[in-house]
Amino acid sequence: MTRQPDTPENAPRLWGGRFQGSMDEIVERLNNSFRFDVRLWRQDIAGSIAHATMLGEAQIIPAEEAQQIVSGLRDIEQGIADGTLTFDPAAEDIHSAVEALLRQRIGPVAGKLHTARSRNDQVATDTRLYLREVIGQVDALLYEIQRTLTRLARQELDPPTLLPGYTHLQHAQPVLLSHHLLAYFWMFQRDRERLADALKRVNRLPLGAGALAGTSFPIRRERVAELLGFAQIAENSMDAVSDRDYALEFLSAAAIISMHCSRLAEELILWNSPEFGFVQLDDSVTTGSSIMPQKKNPDVAELARAKTGRIYGDLLALLTVMKGLPLTYNKDMQEDKEPLFDAVDTLLLTLPAFEKTLATAQFQRERMRAALRGDFSTATDLADLLVRRGMAFRDAHHLVGRIVRHCIEQGIALEELGSETLASFAPEFGTDAGEYATLLASVEARRARGGTAPEAVREQLLHAEKLLESMPAS
Ligand code: ARG
Repeated sequence: MTRQPDTPENAPRLWGGRFQGSMDEIVERLNNSFRFDVRLWRQDIAGSIAHATMLGEAQIIPAEEAQQIVSGLRDIEQGIADGTLTFDPAAEDIHSAVEALLRQRIGPVAGKLHTARSRNDQVATDTRLYLREVIGQVDALLYEIQRTLTRLARQELDPPTLLPGYTHLQHAQPVLLSHHLLAYFWMFQRDRERLADALKRVNRLPLGAGALAGTSFPIRRERVAELLGFAQIAENSMDAVSDRDYALEFLSAAAIISMHCSRLAEELILWNSPEFGFVQLDDSVTTGSSIMPQKKNPDVAELARAKTGRIYGDLLALLTVMKGLPLTYNKDMQEDKEPLFDAVDTLLLTLPAFEKTLATAQFQRERMRAALRGDFSTATDLADLLVRRGMAFRDAHHLVGRIVRHCIEQGIALEELGSETLASFAPEFGTDAGEYATLLASVEARRARGGTAPEAVREQLLHAEKLLESMPAS
């Protein structure tokens, strides 16, 4: 089936004039972006209101007609918002759909809206306006996660909850749970900084670039930027219509955010297993099994982990779409939206659920402490003690290695050895070495800034809390 050629009067399409034949239905379906770019309707109307206002002020179109267009657009915005108006689902894209409604309301003068504008600069403007909002929403969700992390870090600080710190997933050195949790605080802090930085480049106005070469009308781009709250104006019309860096930067930030969530999710999944038993996840964020009545599965954490793959896919899809495109606009670029929207939807769904999982987690302090028993994680402290008492670190390392082997052979824990036995290995140990092999002594010794000593972690936490105050959710 094919449609009739368009005229300006019947047009959901904006470009009928040159065409005699009509578009094949399958081509129309392929070409159509309305089903996904309809989500930009508010931004599209806002951009058009600013553009029409400027056209009137600069007397590019009569002020009265500009006024008609602006109030027509405001009515449409109201009508769509309250459900009394609907877009024509046959429209090619959201830009066509808005203009078609405008024509229905105010007649042929609607055709003047597109003076000195192209859909190429229009769509980039819409998407940037959209991303500006989304960045604020994602930032607010990250802020909530950070707040939860600082709350939990404070809760586990006094008395300090200890657990094994791992490298290679092997017990390495004891750490404070608060320290471990705050590690994620800083990851999400960098994520928020990345978003704020990306926002600077998102917040530039492409409108005025026309199709690619600029416009012959005496437009006032600064005025449009001011009306729409853009901080800067894209300097090169060809770049303005063909750049998708802003979407890629957001997707990169989204991928890294998701990766951070995924790592914490992975830890929660591991810790929630009976082998670790370090955490119990709340009923509200877990699910059961249809066959095994005993099961309680950490689905939110698993999905947070899995959604990361999806967001990486979104980033890679757009990077790949862009890599071979000659300047300037190519229809390929319409394919920026679905990955972008998918990443946005995924984050907006996953981050709050993830925050809830974290906020309701019950840390099993005794299990964490038990995991440290006899795990040799204070071996470094004994080596450090020998170094402080004059031995070269290499020799100290070797000697403590021998002591660990001795313990393994004897089936005893390092902390059970006692000062006397230690001294029998090396006189440098002196008479009090046993005190240094305890877990608390180990963490308390790591007092240098950024370390896991309770007092260092308390300072770190204060710093984190202050940062949250100075960088509230946007
Ligand atoms: N739907 C198009 C997109 O999203 C809008 C721009 C169309 N421009 C054009 N020259 N066909 O990219």
